[in-house]
Amino acid sequence: MKGTILDMFIGGSDTTFTTLEWVMSELMKIPRVMKKLQNEVRGGVGNKEDITEDDFAGMHYLKAVIKETFRLHPPFPLLVPRMSNQNVKINGYNIKANTQVMVNAWAIGRDPNSFINAKQYEPERFLNSAIDYKGNDFELIPFGSGRRGCPGMHFPVVVVEIVLANIVHKFDWILPDGARAEDLDMSESITAHRKYPLKVVAKPYFPCF
Ligand code: HEM
Repeated sequence: MKGTILDMFIGGSDTTFTTLEWVMSELMKIPRVMKKLQNEVRGGVGNKEDITEDDFAGMHYLKAVIKETFRLHPPFPLLVPRMSNQNVKINGYNIKANTQVMVNAWAIGRDPNSFINAKQYEPERFLNSAIDYKGNDFELIPFGSGRRGCPGMHFPVVVVEIVLANIVHKFDWILPDGARAEDLDMSESITAHRKYPLKVVAKPYFPCF
């Protein structure tokens, strides 16, 4: 019981925070995407004070932005290690029983055989695509797949949707000290976190808030 609760806290909080930090980093780096997302959210809800799940039905770009962030920045880049329970041949490789296998979700998301301009952050790629992160499309597996895939996946997605929609709705964002978007450092640490924390300045958009 203790282990399961610990799993949920460790696996559930850092991952969600990391996703939010990366999504804001990408939006700060590419103002075109930020503007498009703000237009969708502001156009969809006007000056409603709190955006909730009920408002998301028509927000396809918001969902595409989040998918694109999971594609380039999966919070568990190597998922969780697996052990083969029998000899198996995959893609011409012989893998013996009891071998530890790591699945590189980070590299899979950046595979140019699966995605055009794979290294570019382009949420539009998901607007007319059936690819989802639920574990059925092996090009995009930030939550793993199969019986040991993440059982909590729906929760962080809704949390990220709610937080992101609210902060881009209510604020305009700029980089501090006159820094330019193109100079924003997007380096990753070895754990796929940002190497340097993101610093941004919020300016209220709706005078009434
Ligand atoms: C952005 C947020 C999250 C990401 C990217 C994520 C990703 C993952 C991944 C990749 C795995 C291993 C799957 C595999 O190797 O096939 C996993 C397992 C797990 N996740 Fe998440 N997770 C997130 C949030 C959460 C949350 C919020 C909870 C709980 C409230 C949670 C609970 C768990 C548990 C209990 C496991 C272990 C499942 C098992 O071993 O059978 N995760 N998660």
